[in-house]
Amino acid sequence: MYLTHLSLTNFRNFTRLDIDVPRGTMLLVGDNAQGKTSLLEAIYYLSTFTSFHASRQRELINFIAAREPLAVGRITADYKRGDRTHNLEVRIIKEKNGVNNSRVRREVLLDGAKQKINETIGHFNAVLFLPSMLSIIDGAPAERRQYLNLSISQTNAKYTASLSAYDKALTQRNALLKLLGERGGDPEQLAYWDEQIIQTGAYVIERRAHALVEIEDLAALVHNELTRGAERLRLIYRPSYDPFPAPKNQMALPLDAPIDRTGFSKDEIARGFHEALIAARGEEIARGMTTIGPHRDEIHFLVNGIDLGTYGSRGQIRTTLLALKIAEVAWMKEKTGHWPVLLLDEVLAELDPHRRQDLLKRLNDIEQALLTTTDLDLFEPKFIQNASTWQFADGRLNTY
Ligand SMILES: Nc1ncnc2c1ncn2[C@@H]1O[C@H](COP(=O)(O)OP(=O)(O)OP(=O)(O)O)[C@@H](O)[C@H]1O
Ligand SMILES: [Mg+2]
Repeated sequence: MYLTHLSLTNFRNFTRLDIDVPRGTMLLVGDNAQGKTSLLEAIYYLSTFTSFHASRQRELINFIAAREPLAVGRITADYKRGDRTHNLEVRIIKEKNGVNNSRVRREVLLDGAKQKINETIGHFNAVLFLPSMLSIIDGAPAERRQYLNLSISQTNAKYTASLSAYDKALTQRNALLKLLGERGGDPEQLAYWDEQIIQTGAYVIERRAHALVEIEDLAALVHNELTRGAERLRLIYRPSYDPFPAPKNQMALPLDAPIDRTGFSKDEIARGFHEALIAARGEEIARGMTTIGPHRDEIHFLVNGIDLGTYGSRGQIRTTLLALKIAEVAWMKEKTGHWPVLLLDEVLAELDPHRRQDLLKRLNDIEQALLTTTDLDLFEPKFIQNASTWQFADGRLNTY
């Protein structure tokens, strides 16, 4: 798929931007603080309605506009998905809430009709690479879960719904566990919430197991090419509730043990998850929280058997992230039948020349890719000739 038109109103530093977007490769060139990353952020926002950058939605609204009692940041795009043309609009609305407070809410319109946000995720698909995303590999486990959630959500609406239902049930269940721990009461009250997290959680675990095997296959190939065959990448899923039976008399399985969890059906996972919750009940009540389930899953990136989260060099982590993102593009194409739009923020500055070549070669397959750079010299003249260039200067955008 590819964008044909993009409009921004009061999004970050863009008070107003209205621009046709060509198919193919686009270079966004400009000095620092011109809005290159913000433009990629706006496009990515259309795919998942989240920003990897902003901790709060209100940061996305232009801060001068946001001084008013009512302020609306707006992203509108026309795009082609297969033969069809669609229009997607997101409004990030800051409005008064009481005398001194304000709140922020979002509205999504697909082809002019209001939609539920969760049901619209993945109608437009994008893969985003930001240099700060190295933390997917060496940061906290929550970053890896978020990465996986956003990728799968773009291809599977049932996953999005299950995850959201799981999170809601988890909050309720934790509140009840705390209450039972503090005040006592009949533990059977947990049965309802157990069932809620089991049914939604089992689907999440099942889908994660499949997605990780599929993405691993693709990422390992790319990674092998990027490292000229020197390194072997593996993605290891370590679910908090593991349907794979732990071996008797052994503490835990070694990280690189070849285990295939894709053979377990959702119902099998649900049965095992249920048993594990019953076994953990006493401890969970004592601690006042849910101690097992997909909210505690972990993913490891191993290169030649070494865990990059703990021992990875900067270069290894960078190469792995790039392989992961390229794999994600191909994986989404496989899953949805459409190429996602690829958004690469300053990626070339981070790569050595042969990896740069490797990456640029791959862009030919994709319908649309946007790359930001402060330095056009990183690109070969031939590549620049075949791309469209957008020059950002003094808060203006020139295209040629
Ligand atoms: N909510 C906002 N309202 C107005 N301006 C904002 C808002 N959020 C960020 N900015 C500003 O937008 C400008 C563009 O930021 P952006 O990160 O997109 O620049 P960039 O072109 O990617 O720069 P760099 O090359 O340094 O990465 C910055 O000056 C930033 O302070
Ligand atoms: Mg930037």
